[in-house]
Parts: sequence; structure tokens; C-alpha cells
Amino acid sequence: MTRSETGFESRLREGRRDLLATLEKVYGPGPGTDVVERLVALARAAHAARPDDLRELDERRIREPDWFQRPEMIGYAAYAERFGGTLAGVGERASYLRDLGIGYLHLMPLLTPRPAPNDGGYAVMDYRSVRADLGTTDDLRALTTTLREHGISLCLDLVLNHVAREHAWAVAARAGDEEKRAYFHVHADREVPDAFEATLPEVFPDFAPGNFTWDDELAGWVWTTFNDYQWDVDWSNPAVLCEYADIILALANLGVEVFRLDAIAFLWKRLGTSCQNEPEVHELTRALRTVARIAAPAVLFKAEAIVGPADLPAYLGVGHHAGRVSDLAYHNSLMVQIWSMLASGDARLAAYALQQLPPPPATTAWVTYARCHDDIGWAIADDDARAVGLDPAAHRRFLSDWYSGTHPGTWARGLVFQENAATGDRRISGSLASLAGAEAGDPGAVARILLAHVLVLGFGGLPVLWMGDEIGLVDDPEWAADPAHAADNRWAHRPRMPWDVVHSGQDPDGVAAGLRHLLAVRRGLPHLHAATPTEVWDPRDPRVLLVVRRHPAGPLLAAHNVSSEEAWVAADVLHWLGLHTAGLRDALSGCAPVLHDGAVALAPYAAAWLHDSDRTPEAQPPGSGRGVD
Ligand code: GLC
Repeated sequence: MTRSETGFESRLREGRRDLLATLEKVYGPGPGTDVVERLVALARAAHAARPDDLRELDERRIREPDWFQRPEMIGYAAYAERFGGTLAGVGERASYLRDLGIGYLHLMPLLTPRPAPNDGGYAVMDYRSVRADLGTTDDLRALTTTLREHGISLCLDLVLNHVAREHAWAVAARAGDEEKRAYFHVHADREVPDAFEATLPEVFPDFAPGNFTWDDELAGWVWTTFNDYQWDVDWSNPAVLCEYADIILALANLGVEVFRLDAIAFLWKRLGTSCQNEPEVHELTRALRTVARIAAPAVLFKAEAIVGPADLPAYLGVGHHAGRVSDLAYHNSLMVQIWSMLASGDARLAAYALQQLPPPPATTAWVTYARCHDDIGWAIADDDARAVGLDPAAHRRFLSDWYSGTHPGTWARGLVFQENAATGDRRISGSLASLAGAEAGDPGAVARILLAHVLVLGFGGLPVLWMGDEIGLVDDPEWAADPAHAADNRWAHRPRMPWDVVHSGQDPDGVAAGLRHLLAVRRGLPHLHAATPTEVWDPRDPRVLLVVRRHPAGPLLAAHNVSSEEAWVAADVLHWLGLHTAGLRDALSGCAPVLHDGAVALAPYAAAWLHDSDRTPEAQPPGSGRGVD
């Protein structure tokens, strides 16, 4: 970099090189070069228009690129209308979030969708405007500003696999505009669709079987992976890439800091495959991120790839993509294993499966979560199940039975979502509290709710809480009352926030207080920085998941008893880690654990975060974290 070169120019120089190399692989040498120049022009214009306060944010993020990896970072996800009514209403709740310790807020889709049904907003009709009942783009700008003043970054969905049938591109295509028709996958007859269908899975077999929809106006079959009104866009058309780059840059200039790349796995279609996780998905993500980083370096990407464990690491980048695709990605595998462990009372499958994942690049972080707005699909690899002596299909069947409340002895009260008779797949809806036993009134429910959170908060990554879980909300009994939701039981775990309960301070089960305590403890432990690698150890006691983090401040051993019986952290584990010292403390209880022949007992569903307090001077006592008191 020459002395006079600005940050922008130097990012542009390096970014252009990267874009060329990346896009040549997708579009070939000629078109690749053209597209790069179009993207560079977009980045230049967006940077010129970037407001001063966001440029300051860019500078801060460049200085402190690990801001989202820190132990004090906690995320929260909610539907804007169900949390705050409107965008202005969400802004009024910023201090509630800050008080909880939240530094990152994911609001579910709020750009203008088609009229209902619209898959909870995931059928976007206009990316340039906000849903009228929530506010305007000015309100969005005001919200990001308010949140930033409270130390909270806003994450928005970028629905980039499909648009609504009513989006202007689709409207034009239906009206005969050839250029816009080329934004979609349209086939005049069944030949190509049938060839693809031979290897394609179905995402919504109940309410949207098949992956193509006949459209009279198009006089063709259009690709619709999800619902028939969600038209997949064709990313092999470079014009589509430029459109989405421009949308990202415009939203970034409104103050959106993180983009959740919705259904990113599905972007690239290749005959003879499942059309998920194709290499071009990662090239395209890299290109979009490069453009965003040139113009607005504060921007982060979060991949929503709800895929099997083998395909997951690529979303944070493997090989030459390491650290250059998404900065964050949902740890779907951890989420599934949390529920598998709680149902089986056994940590061996989870330990084995989690050990198979490579560590994420040090500049990235997993999004760790127990629940989100979607259903749970049992993404357990056959090889992982077999390695610990389980029949994969039988275990998945057991989990569906357990969480749908049909297995003898279950405490869970979930709902079957999208049963697929052909594959035996039965996904599950339900809130964390209902799945953990609170709805059934099971005495172990609170301990399980808190244990799920301990796992999410201490595994390593950016933990994201799903709205309502902080007070242990069970399923909404009225979820089907809205006719637009009646066929989709995911609405059972998408309740409205009961602010009267929150404000009354009632916490009969102690979930709210328990969770706030966990959040405070996490903030004080430097070991929980996401750049510190997570090691999952072989369980000594099959009921105890052992997660180790080695940090300059000494090791941290997170031990989780996932069973309803007393279980043990073996003495040899403490010895191996050098934790058999006078300073041994459990950060969760704040006490020195009682040793029995050198081993630590864990009550049913209890956890301990064991560390040497003499080596962790920075550890703050719970309650001293910001905004907790
Ligand atoms: C994502 C969303 C889900 C939606 C789907 C289609 O998976 O999380 O709610 O149905 O994409 O957009």
C-alpha cells in the first residue's frame, strides 16, 4: 500500500484480485472479468454513500475484528412484531436486551414480503422496503442507530435462494421479459425437472411436495425448493449476483451489520446431486463478502446452512476459503446433539460426532443455539451413529418419538413437522421449554432448560438465545388460530413476547434468574473467546460431555451431566489438565467442588465449568458484568 492510499483503495485492490480469481471459477474468464468490474462499481458507489457514523463503525471493527467472538457477546433472535410490535417498538426494548447482556440481535425477515402466506416473511417481494406494518426504511435506519447506541448489532435475513412470485423480477418474467426470466430456473416441460427430481430431497413434503411448480403465465415449470410461491433464483446468471450485492450494500448503509444468508446451501443446482453444498455456493459467498468488505468492512455474514455435519465446516471456510466465506454459521450439529443427549441421557454420540468436525478458522465463530424459529431435523450422520454402536435410523426414529411426546416415559411435548413417509424423516417443532419437559410439568425440566443453555454458552462460539427462552416460554397454544399459520406448526414455538410476565418479574421456576446467572458467568471467563479452540474429550462417564478450552489463563473444563442420574468427572481428566490444584473452582457455582477420590460429582442435569481460579485473575464474580444488576 502506498502512503497515500486510503483504506478503501487498498481493500479494493486486494478485493478485486480475489473477486477475479473467485468469479472466474464460477463464470469463466470472460464473464468473470465483466462481473468484477460491475461489482467494483457498486462497491465504490456504496462506499461513497456510506454515512459517517457507519464509517466510524468500519474503523472500529477493523481495529477490533474479534468483537463478535468475545465472551461478553451474546445474541438474541426474534420476530420484530412478536417482540416489539413495530421497529420503533423493538427500539424501545433495546434496554431490555442490553440488560440481558445482548450484543447482537437477529430480527426475522422484515423486508416487504408477499401478502400471506409468505413463510414468515421468507418470500420477499421487495428488498428495498420494510414491511408496512413494521415501519419504513427510515425506521430501520433509526433502529440500527438506537441499537448501536446500546452496543447491539443488528442482523437481518438476506433471503437469497428465492424471491416471492410477486417480486418485480418474477412479475417481469411472467409478463414475458426474457432478461428477467433468465433470473429463474424455468423449463418448458418436465424433462429437466424430472432429471433433477431423481436426486433432489423435498424440504416441505407436506405442504409443498416436489421442487418445481407449473406457472401458466411463464408457461413453464419454475424451480421452487420451498413453497410454490418462493421462486429459486438462478445464481449461474451473473446479473443475479450483482442484484444481491447491491441489496446487501444498500442495507449495510442503513446500518445492518450482519447478514444471515438464508438457505445458503441451496444456491447452486447441479444435475445428479442433492443441489445443496455445491462448491459454487462457497465461491459466491466469498465474492459477496469481498464486495461487502470493500465498501463496508463492518459487515459480517452468517450462514444458515442446516446441513449434515460433514458439509457444515465449509460454511466457515475450509482450504483456501478458510475465514473468507461466512464469519458465523449455525452449529446445527451441536443443536441436534444437545437434544439427542438429553433424550438418551448419553453423551457418547455427541462427543464422537463433535470430535469429527475440524476446528473453525480462528477468525470465525459458530453460532451456538438450542432453539431457533425453525423445526429440528435429526441431522445425525450414519457413520457417527454406527461408530458408537447405534442404528442411525432407529436413533433418529427414537428422537422423533421422544420429542413428539409419543415415546413411553418422555417428558417432551413437541409436534411432528413434515413427516416424510418415503424417507422416514420426521422433524420436530416445539419451544425449548416444551421440548425440555416444562409443558408436561416434569420436575427435571428447569435443569434441562439451563443445561441446554450451559452447552450453548460454553461450547465456543456466539451463543444466540431464541426469544422467550430466557423466561422458559412453552408452546403457544393458540398458534394455529391465524389461518395463514395453521398448516405450519413451527408457529407453536414463535409466540408473542408476554411483556406482562416479564415486567411482573415472576419467575416461579427460576429459569430467568438461572439464565441471567449463566450469562454473567460466561462474560467473566476469557477462555470462552471463540478463537480459543474447543476440544471435545472422550467421555469417561458416558453420561458426561467433556469440553475443554485451553487458554493462556489456564484450562477450562466444561463438564455436563446429560442424564437424570448422578454422574462423575473422573479424576484423571482433572490431572491431565493440571486442574487438581487448590485453586480448582466451578465458575457456575462459584465454589470449590467437593472431590471424592479426586473426582467431581455432578447432580442430574448439572454442569460445572472447572478452572484454576489462581490462574484466572480476570474472572469477574457473577453479577459484576455490565447491565446485569
Ligand atoms: C430458512 C428459514 C425458514 C424458511 C426457509 C425458506 O431455512 O429459516 O424459516 O422456511 O429458509 O426461506
